Amino acid sequence: MNTNNTNDRLIIFDTTLRDGEQSPGASMTLDEKVRIAKMLEQMRVDVIEAGFPIASKGDFESVSAVATVIKNSTVCGLARALDKDIERAGEALKSAASARIHTFIATSPIHMKEKLRMQPDDVLAQAIAAVKKARQYTDDVEFSAEDAGRSELDFLCRVVEAAIDAGARTINIPDTVGYNIPHQFGELIKQLIERVPNADKAIFSIHCHNDLGLAVGNSLASVLNGARQVECTINGLGERAGNAALEEVVMAVRTRRDVFSCDTNIDTTFIVPASRLVSSVTGFPVQPNKAIVGKNAFAHESGIHQDGVLKSRETYEIMRAQDVGWSDNKIVLGKHSGRNALKSRLSEIGIILNGEEALNAAFSRFKDVADRKHEIFDEDLIAIASESQSALDHTRYHLVSSWVCSETGEIPRAKVVLNVDGEELTGEAEGGGSVDAVFSAIKKIVKDHGTLELYSVNSITSGTDAQGEVTVRLEKAGRQFYGNGSDPDIVIASAYSYLDALNKLAMNESREHPQHSV
Ligand code: KIV
Ligand code: ZN
Repeated sequence: MNTNNTNDRLIIFDTTLRDGEQSPGASMTLDEKVRIAKMLEQMRVDVIEAGFPIASKGDFESVSAVATVIKNSTVCGLARALDKDIERAGEALKSAASARIHTFIATSPIHMKEKLRMQPDDVLAQAIAAVKKARQYTDDVEFSAEDAGRSELDFLCRVVEAAIDAGARTINIPDTVGYNIPHQFGELIKQLIERVPNADKAIFSIHCHNDLGLAVGNSLASVLNGARQVECTINGLGERAGNAALEEVVMAVRTRRDVFSCDTNIDTTFIVPASRLVSSVTGFPVQPNKAIVGKNAFAHESGIHQDGVLKSRETYEIMRAQDVGWSDNKIVLGKHSGRNALKSRLSEIGIILNGEEALNAAFSRFKDVADRKHEIFDEDLIAIASESQSALDHTRYHLVSSWVCSETGEIPRAKVVLNVDGEELTGEAEGGGSVDAVFSAIKKIVKDHGTLELYSVNSITSGTDAQGEVTVRLEKAGRQFYGNGSDPDIVIASAYSYLDALNKLAMNESREHPQHSV
């Protein structure tokens, strides 16, 4: 695909699957990454950074899988400025219809001195060599000057010029530690574009972290000063305080066309479904007052506001909820709806099921939920699709059945049957309550269960028959694992959620992890 710079086109580079996954506890399985990548493709994201292939076997396989299935977005793999990283990225991207290698090295005095222990001239030479090496695999090479936001301008200009000469088509300027302030970061981009003699041969990109809550502000200031690629993530997921939120950048530029002289190619109606998908996969809830995708983003509480909106929506709303994918809370399907109706509604909200097996699993789950909950909304469908896909994922533990007895004055008891690597195992236990008893029964089967740090329940829609969405967080050896599960029965939702986190913990144990820190 053509991602060449044009003045009025802003390229959206999504790094949910790479920097987003670097959020503590946000690890995703290969199937989950493919699911998110397909949603991003539907949303017309230009570049999907699918992972860091050298970091682990799991990362390599995920990048390969995403590269194989995605046809309409460029798929990108991250690589340090090292031959072995670039070779691994090139290998992982072999099957991509459009592949990009993103190579980086730090250019700030503190990173060069303390982390790399390298002289600036050696960093420069390594950057050039890395870009040239990456060009052996693809013409689409991006170079990042890590910690550019704290680098010296003269040196940064030299590195950028040399990287472009060596063949980089995109130059990314990261504010790696979220230290910059919008007017200053915008000025940095302006200076680079003015001072680097071959700047017109590359697209300037920014990648901002949110340590001071300024990731989106810094990104937008850079766009105003000539950057034409923004690196961002769904829900602002990412290392530490996160990255710039895709939905905020895209909607700011779209809503304020009077200020920005460019626009993205994003189909914004997929924004809310993508946000829900990422939240349900990672178990990271979206805060209610989060811009664009928070539950309250379009809710009007005060009488004056309600009155105004009823008279004219524009009095208090600057965007239309439907334009970012909020449904009108209409009942979309019911228990008599058929497979085709389910398939087509799911595809309308950006969920593409992978073949007949996935459709069958989703349909059987849909029937099960629709029997217990008569009104099915889009939010329910997203949860149904997520739950049915998890059941098909190549994970270790799957719930076969659960039985709970809870009676006034009696100690709750539970019996759980799990499928563990193809074998059915049963656990029985008592607990302080039904959920506690189910978790204890699961722990009888799964010995490696870490420590439960968080358990929370939310209802997906309203009403007592609403699906409960449960999030749990486990901790083991300083690492966190989030799990998510939904069902109209919150005890079952809890079991799904616990098993989801246990599957992530198990996946982590079986993964090698070398130096995965950027
Ligand atoms: O924050 C950062 O600097 C990065 C680079 C690898 C682009 O994530
Ligand atoms: Zn980053």
